[in-house]
Amino acid sequence: MPALVLLGAQWGDEGKGKATDLLGGSVDYVVRYQGGNNAGHTVVVGDQTYALHLLPSGILSPDCVPVIGNGVVVDPAVLLSELSGLNERGIDTSKLLLSGNAHLITPYHTTMDKVTERFLGSRKIGTTGRGIGPAYADKINRVGIRVQDLYDESILTQKVEAALDFKNQILAKLYNRRAIESGRIVEELLAYAEQLRPFVADTTLVLGRAVDEGKVVLFEGGQGTLLDIDHGTYPFVTSSNATAGGACTGSGVGPTKIDRVIGILKAYTTRVGSGPFPTELFDEDGEALRRIGGERGVTTGRDRRCGWFDAVIARYATRVNGLTDFFLTKLDVLTGWERVPVCVAYEIDGKRVEELPYSQSDFHHAKPVYEYLPGWSEDITKAKTFDDLPKNAQGYVKALEEMSGAPISAIGVGPGRTETIEINSFL
Ligand code: GDP
Ligand code: IMO
Ligand code: MG
Repeated sequence: MPALVLLGAQWGDEGKGKATDLLGGSVDYVVRYQGGNNAGHTVVVGDQTYALHLLPSGILSPDCVPVIGNGVVVDPAVLLSELSGLNERGIDTSKLLLSGNAHLITPYHTTMDKVTERFLGSRKIGTTGRGIGPAYADKINRVGIRVQDLYDESILTQKVEAALDFKNQILAKLYNRRAIESGRIVEELLAYAEQLRPFVADTTLVLGRAVDEGKVVLFEGGQGTLLDIDHGTYPFVTSSNATAGGACTGSGVGPTKIDRVIGILKAYTTRVGSGPFPTELFDEDGEALRRIGGERGVTTGRDRRCGWFDAVIARYATRVNGLTDFFLTKLDVLTGWERVPVCVAYEIDGKRVEELPYSQSDFHHAKPVYEYLPGWSEDITKAKTFDDLPKNAQGYVKALEEMSGAPISAIGVGPGRTETIEINSFL
């Protein structure tokens, strides 16, 4: 099983960090392929909790090589501070590989992200303010700065000047902000160059060889299917391909090399930021899911919007990612409800719809059609096998599996590594 992708099946925060860490001990490489430090992946090992933003969760497994692929946007200040934070906690980070082709997030990207959101006012996306969208926009506009540019001062200077020429006009004339001086940016970036140098590599070559040698490579997605720039709820999305195809473009490993695509699926639904969310709850059930599930953003500390499980979304995730398996997380959070609503279809302008509508207006009008599944009250956090679960919890999992279109191969019953029921092995 040389290559597998693990990604979010909903709007992010499904528990990708935990799932990646669980497999980390048995894989050779863990690769981030898109996104940047907008991600917040929580890993709980014993009594230690780690919040990773840019580094692949495999960094916590001593024998695993963590890789930041070409598709990631890298804020060098964040990367260095995340590395030193882990070093202070006794984690060896020396194996990290950083693609020379990854694009950099610079201070002007973060500034542009914040001023654009302010300018949009009530129409804002609710971004994490980490400069993600502006950095990807520069990449596509061919005025981005790459990691490799740090090692040629003259090229770096020319590129920063080219990028700022246009942005300074916008900052000054549209947003009424002071222009950003290119010399200051170049100086700041050059100061990171030597600290990053030991990690910089041709990661496409390294990963291509690893796959050919039968090494196990795990691609760890950031965000989730419905935040994907092409397949998500545009424009309320992130600026990268969080779906399975992103693993190929963001790493340089071709699609024929990928053996398995695992969708991480929360037993209910959450979303951070603006945008449509058919099963969102505004009542005490929503409050209870937020409280019991600890649904507060790891990156921005914002409360997550909460709602019931949406099988239309899960089916869509199966289709657009070609999912082979699901890892169902946070089943323990649903303990205590007498019955648990599950959205099985939408009603849109009086019609029942089984598939995610491609039209933005239709999705905004979608009302959930619920089926009510019997709940359970027994503590399930100690369950080790599927048979340890109460009958109604088993029924809930089976029903979700049937509606979602791929086998549920693992179930999370708590945040810790060991609080997992493994049904089919992933490796
Ligand atoms: P990610 O962005 O997909 O890695 O997810 P986050 O780390 O942002 O959010 C998931 C949260 O749920 C974290 O606090 C995890 O520790 C926690 N978590 C993951 N799996 C489970 C589970 O099965 N049960 C419970 N109770 N918490 C979980
Ligand atoms: P993980 O990897 C949840 C959301 C933001 C906003 C939108 C665009 O932890 O699942 P951006 O800063 O990316 O331009 O913001 O995407 N968003 C996330 N929501 N989990 C994440 O990452 C997210 N990363 C971005 O809240 O709505
Ligand atoms: Mg998260």
